[in-house]
Amino acid sequence: MSDVTATPAAHELSREQVARVDPSGQLGDVLALPDQLRDALWRAESAIMQDWDTSAGLVVAGMGGSAIGGALARAALGDHASRPIFVTRAYGIPAWTTPDTMVLCASYSGETEETLACYESAGALGAKRTVVTTGGRLAEMARADGVPVIPLPAGFQPRAAVAYMIVAALEVVALCGAGPRLTSEIDVAASHLEQLVTEWGPDAPEDSLAKDLARGLFGTTPVIAGAGLTVPIAYRWKTQINENAKQPCFSHELPELDHNELAGWEGAHEVGRFSAVFLDDSDATPRVKQRMDLTEQMIAGNAVASFRLETRGQTAIERVLSLVLLGDLVSIYLATLRGVDPGPVKVLDDLKAALAKL
Ligand code: PA5
Repeated sequence: MSDVTATPAAHELSREQVARVDPSGQLGDVLALPDQLRDALWRAESAIMQDWDTSAGLVVAGMGGSAIGGALARAALGDHASRPIFVTRAYGIPAWTTPDTMVLCASYSGETEETLACYESAGALGAKRTVVTTGGRLAEMARADGVPVIPLPAGFQPRAAVAYMIVAALEVVALCGAGPRLTSEIDVAASHLEQLVTEWGPDAPEDSLAKDLARGLFGTTPVIAGAGLTVPIAYRWKTQINENAKQPCFSHELPELDHNELAGWEGAHEVGRFSAVFLDDSDATPRVKQRMDLTEQMIAGNAVASFRLETRGQTAIERVLSLVLLGDLVSIYLATLRGVDPGPVKVLDDLKAALAKL
């Protein structure tokens, strides 16, 4: 990790300091990721679902915190996906959806209008459907239609249910024949995450990687770069920093960013305080690593701070979850440094309420 000119932030990032801004216990939900993975496995296995072989693959339809599970699941499968797996964040499902496609409609609340529209259009096209939700209209419609429902526990912010969403997507992948069942890998990954929770959590020393990183990003607009397996993780970091720390953050991916965003960094100092975070995968190809090295060097002089992080773990699911955990913790620490409550996202609720009146 290279820290060019990190902003010194004197604040302690202890459990007590986080608790001051976090009355709804978002930190606790992040620290419980290992247990949530195990609970999610149990829930997905207990849900009444059919083995539906869908030769055209899987579409995961959802928005925001409910869509990211599908994207992370796809990354964790990597080359083991044997059929197309596509994540849609929109009002509709792809035009190529057929009765031979499985559509997993993922909505924590069960009330998201885009996802409800996808549920209906999947039904109109005769696609196989599965739902993952806590309830709402989505659960009501699914029950009326005899569509299997994977139930989620209530009481989370949607984005904090990420373990449940990843496991549900992976379970449906296996059921529809789009990839192998990863049950034992997920179980091992949960134990691996427990070690990382200790290493990066609030009881770790003040100079732990997660706390140092939050201090380095404090007061800047982070720009997160992923490559391959880490692309959806970079997006998860962006959205967690947006929603938990309530501040701008952007993400992009290599190699594409070398063909546009790299040039934009030349003017970074003139328009703001931007920091760069590169999410490397320990299993990335040498060429991708060389590209990331060079890109990092070329950006570093124009960034307020620059960080290079690497996935931890053996399997792809361990590696994905390692950096998801780190990003989630960093976003809560950043919220603490900024003195903002990481829980409610009032502006998102206001927008949904305003749209509902139109
Ligand atoms: O994190 C959030 O709260 C949002 O991104 C929601 O996940 C998004 O608005 C969709 O809502 P839901 O997850 O209830 O379908």
